[in-house]
Amino acid sequence: MSDAEAMLRLHGVGVRYADGTVALDAVELSVPRGQFCVLLGSSGAGKSTLLRAVNGLIVPSSGVVELDGQALRPGDLRSRGRKIATIHQGIDLVPRLSVLDNVLCGDIAALPLWRALLGRFGRARQRAACMLLAEVGLDESQLYRRASELSGGQQQRVGIARAFISRPPLVLADEPVASLDPRISRDILALLRRSARMHGATVLCSLHQIELAREFADRIVGMRGGRIVLDCAPQQLDDARLAALYQRGTSDAAVAAAPAAAAIEIEGLRA
Ligand SMILES: Nc1ncnc2c1ncn2[C@@H]1O[C@H](COP(=O)(O)OP(=O)(O)O)[C@@H](O)[C@H]1O
Ligand SMILES: [Mg+2]
Repeated sequence: MSDAEAMLRLHGVGVRYADGTVALDAVELSVPRGQFCVLLGSSGAGKSTLLRAVNGLIVPSSGVVELDGQALRPGDLRSRGRKIATIHQGIDLVPRLSVLDNVLCGDIAALPLWRALLGRFGRARQRAACMLLAEVGLDESQLYRRASELSGGQQQRVGIARAFISRPPLVLADEPVASLDPRISRDILALLRRSARMHGATVLCSLHQIELAREFADRIVGMRGGRIVLDCAPQQLDDARLAALYQRGTSDAAVAAAPAAAAIEIEGLRA
């Protein structure tokens, strides 16, 4: 893949927490424009740490993160917030704010501070927020409801609308359906994928449900012990590779040696 095709690149990214835990170990990853890339791996594998190293919530101990060919600088959170949106597992809407205001808050990095503080988002933004809410299936009757009154599934729909309001080229999602039941989880992932395609965004999404990863991913990247140990198309995720990814004590070499193990690069879907 050439540099021009990659929306996100990690070069030798390492994260060591203050207590000495090495959560990421020299990770190399390149995600092409428009791809829906799923991070799979057991708890503690380093998925959330990788996503936080990209959105700037933690500063890597080593290596470089590049967005669209530009190295991201630590501390430049405001400009990063305009280019990278994050959807969280805990959904994290502001409970007492309305659905509409929660979506508008997703665009706060693009506003002068005084306007953000006064809640003056402007009519164009309000229209954009209403359209996004309609896209995720929330109609006008829901706009002024408090976020806390919505079901978990509805809240995550708002989370998706909020992620796309700033028209980010990259959307990160950290186990976005972990707190939802299976049927609603499928609906939410389908919405996320549809919104990403409509808006031409690249997605890096961690999941722990293998079936959902198979169904929605363009590509599956498997992590264990802070390293990428698997990189394949969803249809290549067979039992042998899964066993190797999740089995304790299996060496990385065993994952690589599993059938159909050649790591492949997949043509990114273009919007
Ligand atoms: N703030 C932290 N301080 C110390 N260790 C942490 C911290 N956050 C995560 N870890 C550790 O880093 C490793 C990777 O964690 P994490 O990125 O949360 O994995 P995942 O999201 O795949 O479950 C784990 O060993 C975890 O215990
Ligand atoms: Mg996690």
